[in-house]
Amino acid sequence: MVNIYSDDEIKIIKESGHITYMCHQYLKEYLHPGVTTKYIDDLAGEFIKEQGGIPSCLGYDGFPANICISINDEVVHGIASDDVILKEGDIVTLDICTLYKGYHSDSAWSYPIGHINKQKEHLLHHTEKALFTGLKEIKAGVPLGNISARIEQYATKHGLGVVRELVGHGVGHELHEEPDVPNYGKYNTGMILQAGMVIAVEPMLTAGKRNVEILDDEWTIVTEDGSPSAHFEHTIAIREDGYEILTGE
Ligand code: MF3
Ligand code: CO
Repeated sequence: MVNIYSDDEIKIIKESGHITYMCHQYLKEYLHPGVTTKYIDDLAGEFIKEQGGIPSCLGYDGFPANICISINDEVVHGIASDDVILKEGDIVTLDICTLYKGYHSDSAWSYPIGHINKQKEHLLHHTEKALFTGLKEIKAGVPLGNISARIEQYATKHGLGVVRELVGHGVGHELHEEPDVPNYGKYNTGMILQAGMVIAVEPMLTAGKRNVEILDDEWTIVTEDGSPSAHFEHTIAIREDGYEILTGE
């Protein structure tokens, strides 16, 4: 079942999303060589709680950290650790989920650590653009597959791999709701978007092949070929004439 949220509910999801957004703004100042991912994760947990929220990732299916922190070839669900130290040239994705007044929000963003190489620059730039290119398709009455097709087309045009095993999703009462929002697909397929739907659109792209595998920790998903991966995600509400970003200012 796909939930349709009222304007009052969307207002609360936007408050939740604002905490998620502010958490990104806060954490990105700490992303420097020499910092451990555990330090970042602790800051994230404190920040979200100070704002009256709960870090939704913690305990989700037993996930052991406040947020997901994924470095370089890690696509998603990286687990913070005292042993993982950020270094110059890394790219790091913070995937932050907040539960606030009963509503979840979800936003991931990839950041450079110091100076990064051309390949990673290309990947970050075009994965972010893939997100906004996909979002441009959105308004009530449009088939969901148009978002997917647009993201895939954009990624392919820029030589990036589209991860298929992980998809965007509805979000609100639960962190993961229907519908799935894949980053590949065909125009004029899939369900028709309706005003009041709330979805997380989240291209996960690679600088190499699209294939991924899971590490022995049973969480961290990495690219099979070791190529770097980036991930940009906003929670958005579908409106009659477009969309509204809920994980922004
Ligand atoms: N934003 C992540 C996702 O949509 C949240 C995962 S929570 C975790 O997959 F616990 F699974 F990490
Ligand atoms: Co998500």
